[in-house]
Amino acid sequence: MARTIVIAGNWKLNLSVEEGVALAGALAKEAGNDREIVVFPTALSVYPAVQAAAGSKVEVGVQNAYWEVSGAYTGELSPELAKAAGAKWVLIGHSERRQYFGETNETCNQRVQATLRAGLKPMLCIGETLEERESGRLDEILRGQITGGLANLSADDLADLVIAYEPVWAIGTGVVATEEQAQDAHALSRGIVRDLLGDAFADSVRILYGGSVKPDNAAGLLGQEDIDGALVGGASLKADVFSGIINS
Ligand code: 13P
Repeated sequence: MARTIVIAGNWKLNLSVEEGVALAGALAKEAGNDREIVVFPTALSVYPAVQAAAGSKVEVGVQNAYWEVSGAYTGELSPELAKAAGAKWVLIGHSERRQYFGETNETCNQRVQATLRAGLKPMLCIGETLEERESGRLDEILRGQITGGLANLSADDLADLVIAYEPVWAIGTGVVATEEQAQDAHALSRGIVRDLLGDAFADSVRILYGGSVKPDNAAGLLGQEDIDGALVGGASLKADVFSGIINS
C-alpha cells in the first residue's frame, strides 16, 4: 500500500517567535512536492507559525498537550486550545518528555485519547535507549510503548495516527541508525501494530524515523520499505537544510 511520506520538524526549545515565523514562512513558500510537511514550534510560536504558513501545505503541531480541556492546570495547554490556534497535530511521548518530564506509556495513552477527542492528529514517539538495545530488549520496549500508548483505542479511532520511531541513542548525537537498523526496528514496530490492530491498519499507518536525520542521509532512510517519513530535530531549524530533507 502506498503511504504518503511525512517530513516533520521538531523545533524543541529553539527559535524565538520572530525566528519561527520566518522559518514557517520560508517553508510555506518552498514546500512544493507531494510529501506532507509538519512543524512543531514552541507553544508560543504555534499561532503565528500557523498564520505564516496559511494557504500552504505546511501543517503545524504542538510538542505536547495535556488531557484536560481547560481548568486549573497551570502551565498546561490542551489539544482543544491547540486546535483553536490552528494546530493540526500533537507530538506525544517524545523521549525527552519521557526522560526529563516523567512521561509514561499510560500518560501517553491519555494524551493520544485527548488528541483524538479534539479532532487533532497524534504523532506518538517510541524508541529504545542504547542500554535497552544492547541488552536485547528492543522488542519488549517497543511493544510496551505501542500497546501502552494505543491502549483502549480501535483502528477506526486511530485513523490519523502517525508513529515516530526515534532510537534515543541517535537523537542529537550525530549517530544515525544505519538504514538496516532503522528498517528492522520499523518492521518490528509495524508487526507489533499488526498484532494489536490488524493487517489493514498496520499496512496503512505511517512510521517515521527520527534521530540525526540530515539532508545527506535522508534519501537512504526514506528508501527503506517500512520508513514512511522523518521526524527531524536539529536539521529542521534552518529552511535550506530542512528543505534539503523535504526534497531528498
Ligand atoms: P535530531 O534530529 O536533532 O537528532 O533530533 C531528533 C528528534 O528528537 C526529533 O524529534
